Amino acid sequence: MLTIEADAELIRSERIKTHGPEGFEGMRKAGRLAAECLDMLTPHVVPGVLTDDLDKLAREFILDHGALPACLFYRGYAKTVCISPNHVVCHGIPGERALREGDIANIDVTVIVDGWHGDTSRMYPVGEINARAKRLIEVTYEAMDRGLAQVRPGARFGDIGWAIQQYVEAQRCSVVRDFCGHGLGKVFHDSPNVLHFGQKGTGPEIKAGMFFTIEPMVNLGKSQVKVLNDGWTAVTRDKSLSAQCEHSVGVTENGVELFTASPKGLFRPTF
Ligand code: MF3
Ligand code: CO
Ligand code: CO
Repeated sequence: MLTIEADAELIRSERIKTHGPEGFEGMRKAGRLAAECLDMLTPHVVPGVLTDDLDKLAREFILDHGALPACLFYRGYAKTVCISPNHVVCHGIPGERALREGDIANIDVTVIVDGWHGDTSRMYPVGEINARAKRLIEVTYEAMDRGLAQVRPGARFGDIGWAIQQYVEAQRCSVVRDFCGHGLGKVFHDSPNVLHFGQKGTGPEIKAGMFFTIEPMVNLGKSQVKVLNDGWTAVTRDKSLSAQCEHSVGVTENGVELFTASPKGLFRPTF
């Protein structure tokens, strides 16, 4: 017999979709195009570029490839990508702001190809960046790798959050709690919430055929964030630097498939 707790857990985990080979094919195409879009942007992220110009480049690239920008008109969002520099944690809105030498910026893109969503983000150094910024980016990417290493059938979603949190905090950085990864597929933001903190052995069971994102946000200072009056831009409360990276993944029989790997090997920035 199930306890009420276990019963609730079972109901929650059964709401997470699993997909077959056609789903994997669809996600490979969508994930690849999203990654190619970020690859395309790389040489354009230089001192002086306007975040709006990067947004336009992304929009044209996506439309030219017969895909749709998932964020455009999503809950009233009016741009193709999110660009989040320095102490902006996520959902920075492209505009007239010019990127400056020494900035670090996350660019997050989601495309829809044949109904499937490919969602990925990376960090971009703008010109030369300082040692603290480099270290934060390194910690964020290592956190992602440690989260990914937990993904296999039979593991639990809490294992991912635990691996990320224990590493990030051991590096004297903090994990943002207010935003999480998510299931995706034909739906942009689906169940489950993929937390980037938590306890080993907790949460729903990970099963073959599940599709979701891992997208840790890591701060050099405290974990608290606030959303600005535009209703989107999330910033660190203590103004400390923040970094993020995101992959869309599928669970295979023995591990994980990255749908958003960079064809040019540019997912992880080099300094
Ligand atoms: N791509 C973001 C994510 O990782 C969502 C952005 S929603 C937007 O889930 F409307 F802000 F673009
Ligand atoms: Co996402
Ligand atoms: Co995203």
